This record gives sequence, C-alpha cells and structure tokens, in this order.
Amino acid sequence: MFKSVRFRITLWYAAALAVTLTLFSWLVYNSLATSLTENTDQLLAYRAEGVADALQTYLETERIEVGRHSRAAAKQKAFYKIAKDLVQLQADDPRQAAVDLRIMDPTGKELINSGNADLAPDLPDRTLNDALNGNAAYDTIVMPRSGAAPVTYRSYTTPTVGSSGTAYIVQAYRPTYHTQFALRNLRYMMVALVPFIVFLTGAFGMFFARVALRPVADMAKTIRQITAANLSLRLAPPRTKDEIRELADLFNAMLSRLEDSFLSERRFIQDASHELKTPLTILKGELEVALKKPRSPAEYEETLRSNLEETEKMSSIVGDLLTLARFDNREVRLERKPLDLLELLRDAAERLAGVAGKSGIRITVSGSGSAEGDHAQLSRLFLNLLDNAVKYSPEGSEIVVEIYTEGGRPAVRITDKGAGIPADDLPHIFKRFYRADSSRSSAGFGLGLPIAKSIADAHGAQIRVKSAPGSGSAFSVVFPKPAA
Ligand SMILES: Nc1ncnc2c1ncn2[C@@H]1O[C@H](COP(=O)(O)OP(=O)(O)OP(=O)(O)O)[C@@H](O)[C@H]1O
Ligand SMILES: [Mg+2]
Repeated sequence: MFKSVRFRITLWYAAALAVTLTLFSWLVYNSLATSLTENTDQLLAYRAEGVADALQTYLETERIEVGRHSRAAAKQKAFYKIAKDLVQLQADDPRQAAVDLRIMDPTGKELINSGNADLAPDLPDRTLNDALNGNAAYDTIVMPRSGAAPVTYRSYTTPTVGSSGTAYIVQAYRPTYHTQFALRNLRYMMVALVPFIVFLTGAFGMFFARVALRPVADMAKTIRQITAANLSLRLAPPRTKDEIRELADLFNAMLSRLEDSFLSERRFIQDASHELKTPLTILKGELEVALKKPRSPAEYEETLRSNLEETEKMSSIVGDLLTLARFDNREVRLERKPLDLLELLRDAAERLAGVAGKSGIRITVSGSGSAEGDHAQLSRLFLNLLDNAVKYSPEGSEIVVEIYTEGGRPAVRITDKGAGIPADDLPHIFKRFYRADSSRSSAGFGLGLPIAKSIADAHGAQIRVKSAPGSGSAFSVVFPKPAA
C-alpha cells in the first residue's frame, strides 16, 4: 500500500499542499501583523500630534499675552485649554480604539493624563532625549504588573517646542493586547486548519487516485493470466480515452505481434519437420525394400543413387535453414565492395543458361550500374530470383533482366512471362516454406524468396513484386543510394 503509485501521488500532493498553505498562512499572518501595527502607530501619532499642535498654538498665544497677564495666570489658562482639547480629542471619534494621552514637562514629569497615571508605561531615556532634541519616537514597552501578566504598550512621543526649546512632551499610548489577541487567534486557527485541510485533501486524493487507477488493477489481473498457451487473451480497454487506455491498446497490439510471431515460429518448425520428413521417409522406404532380399550390384547402385538424391535434398533444406537462421541472428558477415551489376547478372544468367536452355527460355541482360555489397550473397539473391523466373515460365518464353536507376538508387528488375502469382498469395511469398498452390507440381521448398529477402535486408535493399496471373511477374531489387 505504501509503495503504491496511488499512495505516492497522494503523498506528494499533500506535501505540496502543506507547503503552499503554510507559505500562504505565513504571508497572511505577516501582512495582518504589519497592518495592525501600522494602524496603531498611525492612530497614536494622529492623536499625539493633535494635542502637540494644540499646545504649540497655546504656547504662541502665551507669548503674545505674556505682557498683559501675570505668568501664572497665563500658564493656568493655557493648561485649561489643553485639558479641554484633550477631552475633545478623546471624544472625537467614538468608533476608534481608545488611546490614552499624557503631557509631561521636559524632565519627563507627568502633568496631565487622560487615563490612569499608574498604568502608564515608563518613558525611556532615549525617547526623552529625542523629545528634548525636538524629535518624535515610537516605543514598545513591556510593563510588569504585580500579580498579573506583564502588559505591552505601544507609544508615540512627540515634543512641543516653545521659544526656549522643548516645553512639553506629549505621548499617546495604548496596550497592544488587542493586536496580539487578534494575531494569536489567527495563529491558532492556522495551526489547526492547515493540517486538517491537508489531511482532508489527502483522503480525497487517495480515493480519487484509487478510482482513476482501478483500470490498471483490472489490467494487472488479466496480464497475470497470459501465458504462451493463451496468447490470444486481450485486455479489456477502459472506456476512457486517457493514458491508461493508450497503454492497454499498446499492450494489446504488442500481444498481437507476439502471437503472430509465435504462431509463425510454430508453423515454421512444423513446416521444416514436414519438409525433412518426406525425403527421410523415402530414404527409409528404399533402404527397407533394398534389404528385404539379396539384390544385384546394379540394383544396389540404383538404390544408393536415389538415396543420395534424397540426402542432397535434405542437406539443401538444412543448408537453407541454417542460412536463414544466421541472417536472423545477424551472424552473416557481408564483405562490402563496389560491384558491377552487369557483370554480376550476366554471370548469374550464364549459370542458369543450361536449365533455361532445356525449356528454350532466353535470358537477356541489359543496362549498367554498380552497387555496394557482398558478391557471393548478392549473386545468390539474383540466382534465386532467376531460378524462380525460369522455373515458373512456359517453354520458349523470354526473361528480361534490366539494370536501371530509381531516384539515384541502383536497381535491377527481372521480368518473366510466366504464370504470375495470384493476389492472395502475393503477401505470403516471402514467408518461409510458402509456395503458391499452382507451384506444388514443380520442385522447391519455398525457401528461395525468404533467403533473397534476408540478403536484401542485410544490404539495406528493397525487394518488390508486381505480378498478375497469366501475364507474368516482375521482381525488382532497389539498392540504397551509394555514399557520395
Ligand atoms: N517468378 C515467379 N513466377 C510465379 N510464381 C513465383 C515466381 N517467383 C516465386 N513465385 C511463387 O512464390 C513461391 C515462393 O518462391 P520461393 O522461391 O520462395 O520458393 P520455391 O521457388 O517454390 O522453392 P525454392 O526456391 O526453395 O526452390 C513459389 O512457390 C511460387 O509460387
Ligand atoms: Mg525459388
């Protein structure tokens, strides 16, 4: 189960999903955290600057009115207005989060606080210095609380600058637990949700993968039953038009090819045994008859001569079979040399002239050309073709051998005016031991053309036949283009 494709696919997808979801959650979490902090910071700055601006205005008023009123009265008046402003600002937008504001003097001593002064965060020295230098600053400060968890504050501190430097320090602050609470909730949800989603998707994935791969399991069941004895078994292709269907079709096609070659191999062995059995039976019969009673030397000689004939037949079949087997196993070594085709074919025609002459058949060779190949093998190829032409031609007819070129490729055509080959037999004549029924009366084993084809194949040449019963046959051999 853990090694199954189904499991592995599901595992990979689940892993990919887990990584993607984690990354996504991290991005969401971070952007939320940033935007929440930014919101708080903006709010704090807005509130504090509002108060600072107001203070600034009053400081300027104070400077103008300082001549008319006593200093203490002016200060008190200013503070009264500041306090009013503070309240106003706090009440400004009831929908916004609560923020506390306080005003300190340049030593950091608190003068006014909108909330509980005891719960205000400490003012860091660095921030105080910044304020004295006229700069605003943000701080995050953790304040311990007796008997409770420490509270984290975010604050914005900004100075109000008067005629003689920083006069007041305004600070807006707020505990950060709202933000932290929201972020913690999101964190918990993500930690729980991501594994759950991954698990759920994995379970669904496993189910769908099983449905998708069911045809493979069915195929495996059938394949297990296929042996040499029942090669005719075929897979039932799934109704879908997917890769699995393609695989099943390919597998069936392969089975068909295997079955074909298996059957033809079997037929070949049958045919070979049969062809060898006939001369053996004759041989055995003649020997038995000869041994039945004493014979004259002349009779023994006749028996031996007949025996020799049958032995020669058998040895010729075995020789042909060996040749074919050696071509099949690519054991035949070709001696490739440029050959003069005219010379080669004249030679072959001459060797058959005796047999042909007996039936008054004339062989003419014309044209010229050269091809690269093994002299002995090619001469055997053309002898087999010419032998057929002579064997299957009527007395007194003519056999024409032409050497020509076809698209730059050297070629040879052997045309006879013989019986021709029926269309039904044409696709089979290059198969071993195949003989058209009409040829059964003449001698032969049906091995001449298969050998010719093996030789042509080994040379990269093609053999083609054109034949019509009654009007003769034309066999052509087309060689590959000679190397430039
Ligand atoms: N030129 C031809 N004219 C008519 N039929 C032919 C011709 N050449 C081949 N055939 C047919 O093709 C069959 C196969 O030819 P192939 O040369 O393989 O065998 P064969 O001539 O019968 O026997 P072998 O060549 O082994 O002596 C022949 O039996 C014959 O029926
Ligand atoms: Mg032949």
